[in-house]
Amino acid sequence: MHYAHILGTGSYLPDRCMSNDDLSKIVDTSDEWITSRTGIKERHIAAPEEQTSDLAVAAAQRALADAGIQANDIDLIIVATSTPDMTFPATACIVQQKLGIHGCAAFDVQAVCAGFMYALTTANAYIKSGMARKVLVIGAETFSRLLDWQDRRTCVLFGDGAGAVVLGASDETGGIIHTKLKADGRYQHILQTPGKIANGVIDGAPYLFMDGQAVYKFAVKALAQIASEVIQEAGMTAADIDWIIPHQANYRIIESTARHLKLPMDKVIVTLAQHGNTSAASIPLALDTGIKEGRIQRGETLLLEGIGGGFAWGAVILKY
Ligand code: ACO
Repeated sequence: MHYAHILGTGSYLPDRCMSNDDLSKIVDTSDEWITSRTGIKERHIAAPEEQTSDLAVAAAQRALADAGIQANDIDLIIVATSTPDMTFPATACIVQQKLGIHGCAAFDVQAVCAGFMYALTTANAYIKSGMARKVLVIGAETFSRLLDWQDRRTCVLFGDGAGAVVLGASDETGGIIHTKLKADGRYQHILQTPGKIANGVIDGAPYLFMDGQAVYKFAVKALAQIASEVIQEAGMTAADIDWIIPHQANYRIIESTARHLKLPMDKVIVTLAQHGNTSAASIPLALDTGIKEGRIQRGETLLLEGIGGGFAWGAVILKY
């Protein structure tokens, strides 16, 4: 039996930081409104020449250095993104090329803000089955490019960034303990970017659309349920969880999951204020931040959970 252990983590944020006050010069909003409704204070925005793959590579290089392994040792790259460099090829193939390696399997997963949960679960399955031994799992996004910067209901919520994890197979127990993924396509209309490339033009709205209140209601319920289920199926109780590393969309959603599990907020890694919602990058960014700040320690039990468009959601329990 093989177990998928975290060998290293890394993350990357673009240099340009945009505060709520900066935003209030573009749209009719305020630091007070954004902070009180979401908990977000600032977000990072990729430079025009920076692609999602560039953010991914920067995070991956840090994760590889942290793991103490060479890019050549990787036998699978999975990139979770909804903002790929191009329609095809997969951003994972571009990342592979930029890392200077060739031949290993590389593909993208697209589950929006649940993308990292889907990618980590897929990587775990490859390792458990013996199909891969060292997997680079990346969440990377340039969501700023999907935003209508005239729409204050959405443009204040998102940011760009990337986070990466190197997973390694081991015969020792530990690492990823249990995973659970769910999706319900009936809710696709409450959060989507419907535009597609067809016959040489963009067919449909190319900007992110969100019914904020519907998303809020759905997310609170679905995350509470999946968190309880994944803990129970792992044979644990909430008291066994040392840290929750949630998708960073909204402080009130994060708080409600912690409250549901009867865990205090000081057991939750919250990076929302500095990162905003970076979609598939938000969980690995928060994980790396918690580790690099010395809060998350080796041997501790982590609950990762995320939800996003689709609707798609998932949770992972692992021993770091
Ligand atoms: N600044 C100032 N006013 C604003 C802004 C803004 N940025 N955005 C909306 N408003 C106004 C609206 O126009 C409206 O004004 P009106 O009453 O005059 O029409 C008023 O504020 C209330 O708007 P609502 O949309 O009802 O605001 P709500 O209290 O629902 O808060 C929010 C909006 C924060 C988006 C909330 O619905 C929410 O948190 N939803 C969850 C969405 C989420 O987390 N999405 C992330 C992506 S999905 C994911 O990652 C899971």
